[in-house]
Amino acid sequence: MQTILVTGGCGYIGAHTIVDLIEHGFEVISADNLSRASDNSLAGIEKITGKKVKNYKVDLTDKLATENIFKENPGIIGIIHFAAYKAVGESVEQPLEYYENNLFSLVHLLKMAVKYNAKHFIFSSSCTVYGNPESIPVTEETPLQTAASPYGATKQMGETIVRDTAFTYPLSTILLRYFNPVGAHPSTAIGELPIGRPQNLVPAITQTAIGKLPTMQVHGTDYDTRDGSCIRDYIHVCDIAHAHTLALQYSIKKNAEKSCEVFNLGTGNGITVLEAIQAFEKVSGVKLNYELGPRRAGDIVAIYANNDKAVKQLGWNCKYGLEEMMLTAWQWEQSLAKK
Ligand code: WQD
Repeated sequence: MQTILVTGGCGYIGAHTIVDLIEHGFEVISADNLSRASDNSLAGIEKITGKKVKNYKVDLTDKLATENIFKENPGIIGIIHFAAYKAVGESVEQPLEYYENNLFSLVHLLKMAVKYNAKHFIFSSSCTVYGNPESIPVTEETPLQTAASPYGATKQMGETIVRDTAFTYPLSTILLRYFNPVGAHPSTAIGELPIGRPQNLVPAITQTAIGKLPTMQVHGTDYDTRDGSCIRDYIHVCDIAHAHTLALQYSIKKNAEKSCEVFNLGTGNGITVLEAIQAFEKVSGVKLNYELGPRRAGDIVAIYANNDKAVKQLGWNCKYGLEEMMLTAWQWEQSLAKK
């Protein structure tokens, strides 16, 4: 049985990707130590697909426990590696935990991929690797600037580790650089579960709208943009998920060895914070209680993707627009309130 190992499979993007992989005929297992996610995601995946997905509650920095997954599942032909800490602010407070967790787990997984011939390796990267880009929209060739946080540095270093491994060993690797994943599966069976007060824009919006938060702040309206607020490339999590299935199919069909390719996963549309809020208000009918506040340290003014390469080479096309992103995020928040 050809099996795909999804690490971080109980997480936001991991769970949505497992759904898409199953819907496209793949056999999937998950490895998630549940430190940043709940295994309730597995019930959601089963509700959508009818499939029970096995999760190995394993810390991937534990080499022996990681190898045991491969010993028990000899048919693993590919790995999609999501499992990592990803909070920018937390990475500044705890850099060594980020380097240890994000990099040790990656190295152990790559060693297992080589040893057990799981030759298709897809790495969860981020637009954060671009830092503050010299020009936008960014292509895969846009030079990377110094990472703005230890989190961003672990993604830059992770890309280098994957690239160097594929130079020496017969792996077919793909680096996927996500822009800003938002929204939830239309069924509301799975979605984003921020831990504590949400740092990201869309969960801050939906938690304020539902009353979990009294208000929220727009971090800066004095930037050199069309309305003064920052520009980002918000992309629906289901579009991100399907890109992983296409990347895996692309890798299997190409059947290359010693290869490493990079793809931007963004819509190509730059949206300001205020435009995102306006889109939410339009689809939800809720007047959002927000304040115009000061800039947030570490924020870059604007970034959005040139996604031509993924469109042309993976045959990928984004299905969800901004209003659907906001609507599914809002429906997910409302479903949480009923649980
Ligand atoms: C978007 C915009 C904020 C909250 C981060 C990571 C990135 C990726 C996505 C992992 C910014 C503004 C936010 C709020 C606001 N994560 N904002 N009020 O910072 O672009 O990217 O998350 O891969 O690596 O860096 O996303 O959603 O935090 O912020 O005004 O309450 O929304 O200032 O301009 P960001 P974000």
